[in-house]
Amino acid sequence: GLVNTRDMFARAMKGGYAIPAFNFNNMEQLQAIIQACAETKSPVILQVSKGARQYANQTLLRYMAEGAVEYAKELGLKHPEIVLHLDHGDSFETCKSCIDMGFSSVMIDGSHLPYDENVALTKKVVDYAHQFDVTVEGELGVLAGVEDEVSSDHHTYTRPEEVVDFVTKTGCDSLAISIGTSHGANKFKPEQCTRDANGVLVPPPLAFDVLDGVMKELPGFPIVLHGSSSVPQEEVATINKYGGALKDAIGIPEEELRKAAASAVCKINIDSDSRLAMTAAIRKVFVEKPAEFDPRKYLGPARDNMKKLYEHKIVSVLGSAGKL
Ligand code: G3H
Ligand code: 13P
Ligand code: NA
Ligand code: ZN
Repeated sequence: GLVNTRDMFARAMKGGYAIPAFNFNNMEQLQAIIQACAETKSPVILQVSKGARQYANQTLLRYMAEGAVEYAKELGLKHPEIVLHLDHGDSFETCKSCIDMGFSSVMIDGSHLPYDENVALTKKVVDYAHQFDVTVEGELGVLAGVEDEVSSDHHTYTRPEEVVDFVTKTGCDSLAISIGTSHGANKFKPEQCTRDANGVLVPPPLAFDVLDGVMKELPGFPIVLHGSSSVPQEEVATINKYGGALKDAIGIPEEELRKAAASAVCKINIDSDSRLAMTAAIRKVFVEKPAEFDPRKYLGPARDNMKKLYEHKIVSVLGSAGKL
C-alpha cells in the first residue's frame, strides 16, 4: 500500500539525496511518474493540490494512487514506496478529509497566518494525523507569488530563530521553508537576472545562508523545498515555436537543486516542469499533425516527454535513483 514519509526522509537525510514530490492531476502524469520511478528504482511522493482535487476529484485521485502501487509492481518494483500527499492543505477540514480518505501524508500550509495561529493550526492537524500514522509537513516563511491562493509580491524568508519552537510545539514531521523559490514558470523577473557568456539569463542565487541557519537549529530534521521547477528552456522554446506565448519563463538552476538535495532538504516539489513537458509535446503534435484527433496520439507523446523529465530529475538532480 501507500507509505508515509517518515522512513523515506530518514534514509534521504542519511544518504544525501531528496525524494521527488511530483504533482498529478490526470492518468498520463501518473503513468509517467510511475514508469520513471520503476525504471530508476526511486521512491516518490505523489502530490494532490486543492486545484487537483477540484479538477479530478479527491476520491478518484486516491484510488489512482492506490492503483499506482500495483502498477509499479507490474512494472517490476518488488517494494514500491509511494506516498499520497496533500499539497498546500488550507484548513484542518481539508487535511482531515484527506486523512480520512486514505492519504498517507498531508501538508498544512499556515505560512500566511500569524505565527501563533500557524502553530495552533499545524498542531491540530498533527494531533489528528498522527493517530493514523499520517505524516505532516508544515511551513514557515512565505514564497513570493501565489501560494495557497494567497499572493505575495516578495519572499519572506524563513526565520531560523523560529524553527525549533515551531517544530517542537507542533510535532510536524517536515518543514517547508522559504529561501527564494516560488511557484510557477516565472520565478524571477529578467531585470533580477544577469546574463552568462551565451546570453542566457542567470537568476539570483537562492538564500542558502537561510537554509544553513535552519539546518544548524534543527540538525537532522527533514526540510522541504516548494517551487523547485527549473523551467527547462528547451521545453519553453518548443512551446513558443509551436504557437505558445510563454514570456520570461525562468526557473531554479538544477545545480542549486543538486546542492539542496545533498543537504537536509529531503523533499523537492516539482509541478510546473511537468506541465511544460506535457504542453510542449502536445503543441508539437497539433502543429505537425493537424489532422490527428485521437487524444492518445498527443497524450502519448506528452506522457513520454514527462517520463523523460521525471527520470532526469530523479537520476541527475535529486539523486533518488536506486534508493528502493
Ligand atoms: O503549489 C502549487 C502546485 O503547483 C499546484 O498547482 O494549485 O494549480 O494545482 P495547482
Ligand atoms: P513549481 O511550480 O516550481 O513546480 O512548484 C511546485 C510546488 O511547489 C507544488 O507544491
Ligand atoms: Na537531502
Ligand atoms: Zn508548493
